[in-house]
Amino acid sequence: MANLIGDTARSLGLPPLKRAAGLVTRLLPIPQPLLMVGPGASVRLGQAIGDFAHRKILVVTDAVITRLGLIKPMTDALAAGGTAYVVFDQVTPDAPIPMIERGIELFRNEACDAIVAFGGGSAMDAAKAIGLAAANDKHPRQLVGYFKGLHGPVPIYAVPTTAGTGSEVTVAAVISDPQNHRKLVIADTRIVPRMAALDPCLMTGLPAPITAATGMDALTHAVEAYIGLWSTEFSDRMALAAVGMIYQNLPVAFADGQNLAAREKMALASTFAGLAFTRANVGNVHAIAHQLGGLYHTPHGLANAIMLAPVLRFCGAAIQAKLAVLALRSRVGGPGEPEAELAQKFLDSVEAMNRSLGIPRHLDALREADIPGLAEAACREADANYPVPRVMSRDECEALLREALPKKARPRQAARRKSTTTKARARKAPVRR
Ligand SMILES: NC(=O)c1ccc[n+]([C@@H]2O[C@H](COP(=O)([O-])OP(=O)(O)OC[C@H]3O[C@@H](n4cnc5c(N)ncnc54)[C@H](O)[C@@H]3O)[C@@H](O)[C@H]2O)c1
Ligand SMILES: [Fe+2]
Repeated sequence: MANLIGDTARSLGLPPLKRAAGLVTRLLPIPQPLLMVGPGASVRLGQAIGDFAHRKILVVTDAVITRLGLIKPMTDALAAGGTAYVVFDQVTPDAPIPMIERGIELFRNEACDAIVAFGGGSAMDAAKAIGLAAANDKHPRQLVGYFKGLHGPVPIYAVPTTAGTGSEVTVAAVISDPQNHRKLVIADTRIVPRMAALDPCLMTGLPAPITAATGMDALTHAVEAYIGLWSTEFSDRMALAAVGMIYQNLPVAFADGQNLAAREKMALASTFAGLAFTRANVGNVHAIAHQLGGLYHTPHGLANAIMLAPVLRFCGAAIQAKLAVLALRSRVGGPGEPEAELAQKFLDSVEAMNRSLGIPRHLDALREADIPGLAEAACREADANYPVPRVMSRDECEALLREALPKKARPRQAARRKSTTTKARARKAPVRR
């Protein structure tokens, strides 16, 4: 019953609210960082930061990155300019809260007045959370949601080492709560970094599976921003450019990690996708992926990659015209082809891209028994935040998750028949455009 009421409310009541929120998003000025792009950009950023005469900088990164020596050219530039810094390299995937607490403590003890966020999304988001929590003297949990802090953080500069999350240009910091197995989002326009360096030299050692998963995260940002109801002329331009660049360059960067040109294009595409979704937001793919990340620690990009095609298929007719445009921009179809064919070609190409990148169709960790809880949490997240082109009911979300169940974990025949009936019933629900 509660399910039914929730689903009915979802299909009737939320669109006006979401339209209002979309309007606010359009009007809200979102700062855009100054970008330095190209080989050596992280050094140039270090030199530029030196001119700002900060007292002491907290460099937030992870142990893999320090071990690979990736921060050294930038910290050498800081030192050469006479800027003091301290390195916090305890970040672990998905930025868990206890680690962020240690970062806040170091920030305070060292009396830092700026932060360099250096790494993948986990390091950049940890840095944003550390900065905002320290500025407001609050626990990171108290900052979850929109604009929960009174004060903005000290200046944050970003150097992404994956391509990626786009966190170098977004208003979001995704952190994780290991106690409750949940991912939490802090959103505030003041945590957008002031400057960012897109340096392809830092990405040549990124292992192929991480290149693949993070690249698919960027693709998902672009696609969800483009098909969502809050898309604008600007977000469309960024999203479509990102999709084209990812289709041309992700397979190259995956096959040849040393290819600087492909790495640089991927870094830019990831930033463009970030610029698109920080305005237009993401959708059901992310709503589901965040639950998989919270419960099973599935890498964020991998969870998105697995759920992208099923969610796009679910959206069906509501996004056919947009999928057709994506097919043209990704060059998997040509002008003049019928819209339905183009849309199908784009869908097929997402699955083909996954296959060519070695991304599985199923998620090994996923368990049938967890699906109802995951679906409920995903619908709650989507309802509260995302301007999706087609609202999913809990049953529909469960069915989408079941597509990712590993074969050995599939429900027995009888249970499957029941879920198919529910699916058929759900399919009759009206599709909103
Ligand atoms: N803030 C946002 O707008 C936003 C958007 C999307 C995702 N996210 C969040 O970002 C996190 C994921 O970030 P991610 O996908 O970049 O992964 P990550 O930061 O967790 O890094 C993944 C792994 O790659 C390694 N790594 C990173 N750069 C490397 C390099 N250059 N060479 C070798 N190894 C390298 C890291 O050490 C780590 O082991 C998730 O928590 C996700 O929810 C945030
Ligand atoms: Fe993402």
